[in-house]
Amino acid sequence: MKICMVGTGYVGLVSGACFADLGNIVYCVDKDKKKIDKLNSGEIPIYEPGLDEIVKKNYQSNRLKFTQNLSNAVKVSDIIFICVGTPTSKKNKSADLSFVFNVAKEISKNINKFKIIVTKSTVPVTTGDKIEKIISKKRSKKLFEVVSNPEFLREGDAVRDFRFPDRIVVGCNNKKIIKKLEFLYEPLIKKGCIFFSTNRRGAEMIKYASNAFLATKISYINEIANFCEKTKVNIEDVSLGMGLDKRIGGRFLRAGPAYGGSCFPKDTKAITVTADSYKTNLSIIKAVIKSNSNRRMLLIKRIDKILSNKIKNKKITVLGVTFKPNTDDMRESTSLLMLPYLNKKGAKITYYDPSGEKNVFNKLKNVSFSHNIIHACLKADLVIIHTEWDEFKSIDFKKICKNKNLKVYDMRNLYSSDKMKKIGVNYYSIGR
Ligand SMILES: NC(=O)c1ccc[n+]([C@@H]2O[C@H](COP(=O)([O-])OP(=O)(O)OC[C@H]3O[C@@H](n4cnc5c(N)ncnc54)[C@H](O)[C@@H]3O)[C@@H](O)[C@H]2O)c1
Repeated sequence: MKICMVGTGYVGLVSGACFADLGNIVYCVDKDKKKIDKLNSGEIPIYEPGLDEIVKKNYQSNRLKFTQNLSNAVKVSDIIFICVGTPTSKKNKSADLSFVFNVAKEISKNINKFKIIVTKSTVPVTTGDKIEKIISKKRSKKLFEVVSNPEFLREGDAVRDFRFPDRIVVGCNNKKIIKKLEFLYEPLIKKGCIFFSTNRRGAEMIKYASNAFLATKISYINEIANFCEKTKVNIEDVSLGMGLDKRIGGRFLRAGPAYGGSCFPKDTKAITVTADSYKTNLSIIKAVIKSNSNRRMLLIKRIDKILSNKIKNKKITVLGVTFKPNTDDMRESTSLLMLPYLNKKGAKITYYDPSGEKNVFNKLKNVSFSHNIIHACLKADLVIIHTEWDEFKSIDFKKICKNKNLKVYDMRNLYSSDKMKKIGVNYYSIGR
């Protein structure tokens, strides 16, 4: 099949490359010239394990193309996926759908034969209806069908998630079109993936309800961790003990910093705003948003206590600044609040992240990037483990840090409190 991905970001690039790898001809379109130029010169603009190889292979075999020319890509394609961003609106915390609607308008001008138009972007329920309305202003409804196929991939595991998804959800009111999408995904379905179809609004709702549920699970265990700290119970044991119950499950049940990233914060807000407009109060999700927002500062302010309110001139090393490992995505990462907070209090900050230096911190005085863990930790008074990259899981703190009074604040519970005590490191973790 000939496919067009509009928006070549985390979702569009990964799914575009993977669709090409399944034998389709894929046009990845983006309005960002720099991004398209980079891709055409063999550079991958994002950090995503395994992606490089697939992009190169399919680009070389001419199945994967990168272009700014949306018009041509739409004309030659049978299926067009909308994969642009749906960030939080500056006005009211709803999803800003302007990128999606602009793309819909652009597509409508270029429909020359029957097209299946699929939203992969996360969009509020009824957005498909609105896209249909926009396109039908220019083209007869006989010439297109709007489908919802929400994306569930996780950054850092995106290629694997595309190839082995738990399920593929397709929402459309036309059964023939659902069959076409089923055919597109057939190679994955044959490997055992469940293809679940419903109507368009149903698919839109499934995506938001799933993300809000996962965010709830994280906030739930984070609050239980607060309680564990007061009662001297180990949250790790609680997570394990709870997770063994198949009705609960162990995933997304690990205490840590507030949830961040490009999806949960914006999607939890957007679903409550949409529900409010339908006079439905999603009070649980609203409580989750509040709990998560409180958590951000709760964990940051703990640093005052660890350093006995003497942060000025302290050498603080932050290991990992991305919101999670195996991605370079900084969106809604707790580090975006934590580093400026410590910087304002006069700390001298060094940070290291395997995905590289972050421009966003360049404007902060006394904040510098280090190219390796050893250099970053050498003179530290306090090491903060913020992101659980694998390379932070077996650090010999006594060997690499010169400071005898070194303190380690492990926001991801990567180490055993007992073992750290034994080797003489002042160790602070979460919920234990
Ligand atoms: N990132 C994730 O992990 C993830 C997972 C599941 C779903 N989603 C959803 O998928 C959507 C995309 O997310 P993302 O993280 O890939 O976003 P992104 O910001 O990485 O990429 C979006 C891309 O769209 C491009 N774009 C915007 N308007 C355009 C236009 N008119 N024409 C061509 N290109 C245009 C931008 O330049 C950008 O490169 C969002 O709705 C998001 O919620 C994201």
